Amino acid sequence: MTAANWAAIEGVAVKPLQILFEEDDGRVERMTIEQSGLRFDFAKTHLHPAMISAFAELASVVDLDGARDRLFSGAVVNVTEGRAAEHTAERGNGAAESVSQARALQARMRGLLDVIEAGAFGDIRHILHIGIGGSALGPKLLIDALGRDGLRFDTKVVSNVDASALAEAVRGMDPKATLIAIASKTFTTTETLMNAESALEWLRDGGVEDPYGQVVALTAAPDKAIEWGVDESRILPFAESVGGRYSLWCSIGFPVAAALGWAVFEELLEGAAEMDRHFRTAPLDRNAPVLAAFADLHYAQARGCQTRAIFAYDERLRLLPDYLQQLEMESNGKSVTADGAPLGRPSAPVSWGGVGTDAQHAVFQLLHQGTHLIPVEFLASKTPGHDFDPGHHEALLINCFAQGAALMQGRASDDGARSYPGDRPSTTILIDDVTPSIVGALIAFYEHRTFANAVLLGINPFDQFGVELGKEIAKGIAQNGPAGFDASTSALIAAAGL
Ligand code: F6P
Repeated sequence: MTAANWAAIEGVAVKPLQILFEEDDGRVERMTIEQSGLRFDFAKTHLHPAMISAFAELASVVDLDGARDRLFSGAVVNVTEGRAAEHTAERGNGAAESVSQARALQARMRGLLDVIEAGAFGDIRHILHIGIGGSALGPKLLIDALGRDGLRFDTKVVSNVDASALAEAVRGMDPKATLIAIASKTFTTTETLMNAESALEWLRDGGVEDPYGQVVALTAAPDKAIEWGVDESRILPFAESVGGRYSLWCSIGFPVAAALGWAVFEELLEGAAEMDRHFRTAPLDRNAPVLAAFADLHYAQARGCQTRAIFAYDERLRLLPDYLQQLEMESNGKSVTADGAPLGRPSAPVSWGGVGTDAQHAVFQLLHQGTHLIPVEFLASKTPGHDFDPGHHEALLINCFAQGAALMQGRASDDGARSYPGDRPSTTILIDDVTPSIVGALIAFYEHRTFANAVLLGINPFDQFGVELGKEIAKGIAQNGPAGFDASTSALIAAAGL
């Protein structure tokens, strides 16, 4: 049904960026959206009115508006798992019943925080957050981004099953003063449960008589947490309909609220809620997540780009590329549509990136002169996160803007080695500052962009069956050793002495 739309999209003339600017002296204004302290500049992408119209036509055929309404109303949008996807309800935008459940959970989180602060768990000074994937990346990003002026509790996030990570995290922590937060939606994830067991052992070895008394569980499977040994009063259960990689807004964010304070957590939710409202109500051609998705699809579908890169020109956001890898690749890295038919076209591009200016001296060579066309996203803050000489921040921003200009302008030379093809696209997101509400809005922007991409492609962004096979095989190896695998795998297992 959409084949004709894709043919139309792919048939729209691609014009060089320089021409797009020459043709329209209002381009910057038209292609810039300011929302909630974020300025999205899409002017250096190849989107132009005819292209946007072709995408808008596709959006209408696939009923993006309807899909968006279903998302916010708590309908079953995760069709392969028969569930809603209600992360927006956690920030007040969703079905009334889900919003009131989210509010009840928040009250419970606050209550538990008060109890901890009142000393019911002892003199807690450290929090060890144990989780992986969506149960770790959000808290890790937020604490790193927003906690630079100090934390109310010394908080570390541990995810890897390699216990070197755990060893590093607990170095300097006093077991008697440490709260363990076990974050797992399913409460079955091997890495998390193994780390949690070892953390309990560390408490015991450190002289804690009742290690379970220093544990809280953040999960959608409270029964499993109880079975594991966590007292019900210390469980913060969230709704099954909140997906793992969309879960920082619910009790998975508990360590964020603890370390940064409840007011910060609320501001984060409010910032995200503002972006929800923008996504719900702005017309498609003035809607930041939707325009970003149009650009993504232009490059991935019509231009054959297999990757997209994001560079945070701000140390505070250095973990954002990692966070986005899960959000985008676990959501949209699929080969079938929501109804199981072959997708028949590229799905999500590989999402990668780093930090400016470091990345300029490492990978930008390929961006400027390599044979790949890689759409780049630059992210920068108007306000610095430090009190050093403002010259640092000026240099940072100057470099960021110079890279976007250089990618677009290019420079011809008779010497091939010294010529730059130019016409290379970028988007720049310039934020007022790295504040809780702006970071909330920024993450919500990426969630909605991922959703818009999925709807336009016909993908279900809320399941992740692709991660299951490897887990099953790992269990098989743990149970059976080298027997029954391909020769290479068996030889590796034997060589490692497993
Ligand atoms: O294996 C992938 C995954 O299921 C992610 O989707 C999820 O964020 C992560 O594992 C952790 O899962 P859980 O929160 O259930 O421990």
